[in-house]
Amino acid sequence: MKWIRTLAAALLALWLALPASAEYGDVVINNFSDGAGMRPVVFPHWFHRVRFRCKVCHADLGFQFKAGGNQINMLKIIDGQFCGACHNGELAWSVENCNLCHAGKPGTATQVHESTLQKLAPAAAAAASATLAARPASAPGSK
Ligand code: HEC
Ligand code: HEC
Ligand code: HEC
Repeated sequence: MKWIRTLAAALLALWLALPASAEYGDVVINNFSDGAGMRPVVFPHWFHRVRFRCKVCHADLGFQFKAGGNQINMLKIIDGQFCGACHNGELAWSVENCNLCHAGKPGTATQVHESTLQKLAPAAAAAASATLAARPASAPGSK
C-alpha cells in the first residue's frame, strides 16, 4: 500500500503547487495601483468567464476589451461601476477585501498573463487565493 501514499503525496504536492494566484489569461491592471502604493490588481479572467457571459461585462458594464483599457478607480468601484457592480457584498464579496484584488507583485506592468509558469503574485496572495480556490465552485475557473 506504500504506492498509494506515494501517489497521494504526489497529488497533494501538485495541488499545492497549482493554485498560484495568477493563471493563464489573467489580466494584471496597473494604471494607478503602483503609483498609489497598492499592489497591482490581478483579474482572473477565466474564473469570471465561466460564470458570466461576455456581454454582462463587455456590454452591460462597459468594460473595454483591452488590458488596462478602463480607467478604473476605487471611487467608481464603490459607486457600483466596473468590479463594484458585483463586488458589493451581495453578488460577490465586497471591497474591504483589498488584497484579494490587489494581489500582484509590486511593479508588474498592465498585461495579459500568457504563461502558467510566470508568477505574478507573491506567496502570501497565492495562499489567500488557494484558500478561496479550495471551495469547489472555484476549481474549474481557476485554470
Ligand atoms: C473587487 C476588486 C478590488 C478590491 C476589493 C479593491 N480594489 Fe482597489 N482597485 C481595483 C481596480 C481594478 C483598480 C484599478 C487598478 C489600476 O489601474 O491600477 C483599483 C485601484 C485602486 C487604487 C488606485 C486608484 C484610486 O482609486 O486611487 C487604490 C489606492 C486602491 N485601489 C485601493 C484599494 C483599497 C485600500 C482597497 C480595500 C479597502 C481596495 N482597493 C479594494 C480593484 C479592487
Ligand atoms: C466579470 C466580467 C467579465 C466577463 C464575464 C468577461 N470579461 Fe473579458 N475582461 C474583463 C476585464 C475586467 C478585462 C480587463 C479590462 C481592463 O484591464 O481594464 C477583460 C479583458 C478582455 C479582453 C482583453 C484582454 C485579453 O485577454 O486579450 C478580451 C479580448 C476579453 N476580455 C474577452 C472576453 C470574452 C470573449 C468573454 C466571454 C467569453 C469575456 N471577456 C468575459 C471582464 C470580463
Ligand atoms: C459580473 C460580476 C462580477 C464582476 C463585474 C467582477 N467580479 Fe470578481 N467575482 C465575481 C464572483 C461572483 C466571484 C466569486 C465570489 C465568491 O466566490 O464568493 C468573483 C471572484 C473574484 C476573485 C476571486 C477569484 C478566486 O479565485 O476565488 C477575484 C480576485 C475577483 N473576483 C476580482 C475582480 C476584479 C478585479 C474585478 C474588476 C476588474 C471583478 N472581479 C469584477 C463576480 C464579478
